[in-house]
Amino acid sequence: MNNFAALIKQRRSIRQFTEQLLTPEETELILRAALMAPSSKRGNPWRFVVVEDKEMLKRLAECKEHSATFLEGCALAIVVAADATVSDVWVEDASIASIYMQLQAEDLGLGSCWCQVRNRTTEQETDSNEYVRQLLDLPYQLEVLSIIGFGHKAQERKPFDEEKLQWEKVHVGKMGTNGE
Ligand SMILES: Cc1cc2nc3c(=O)[nH]c(=O)nc-3n(C[C@H](O)[C@H](O)[C@H](O)COP(=O)(O)O)c2cc1C
Repeated sequence: MNNFAALIKQRRSIRQFTEQLLTPEETELILRAALMAPSSKRGNPWRFVVVEDKEMLKRLAECKEHSATFLEGCALAIVVAADATVSDVWVEDASIASIYMQLQAEDLGLGSCWCQVRNRTTEQETDSNEYVRQLLDLPYQLEVLSIIGFGHKAQERKPFDEEKLQWEKVHVGKMGTNGE
């Protein structure tokens, strides 16, 4: 298997991390990946906020009711926001940048996990995007898509099980009746 095929098979969401911080070089490589990600018409509507402060990570972990707690234990988080007034496809642009960073992290042997912010709410039913925007002083035109948590892996995950590849979702030429 070539390196990229092995990398995407190996990458799994990691939600438990050691205390070890990322080096400035690792952080820079991850940010370079984000800044090199393709975007519609090269509009680059995204903004990235790098957070390492423990207290701030704890507050980010409260950005929604479920599935954000892992952020408290990560070494570094990158909040991915985009200017919705610059691009009507900012969701796609910001999503691609998010996954590029996760793949770069995996290539460095680091773990990462995506925390969904867009269309989510906090335990108090505040819009998660609004919560993060206020926490980080983001201007009103920026919408928060995701927060990617990074760190050294403190859990082992098996690579993707190829038995679970859903080939039935792939259609050649056109779909049959009932979408089969
Ligand atoms: C758009 C998107 C949103 C996600 N949101 C969360 C999240 O809020 N919290 C979380 O723990 N994992 C989140 N994940 C990670 C998924 O749960 C994970 O990718 C999926 O279960 C497959 O597992 P794997 O990444 O280990 O292959 C998200 C992933 C994507 C692509």
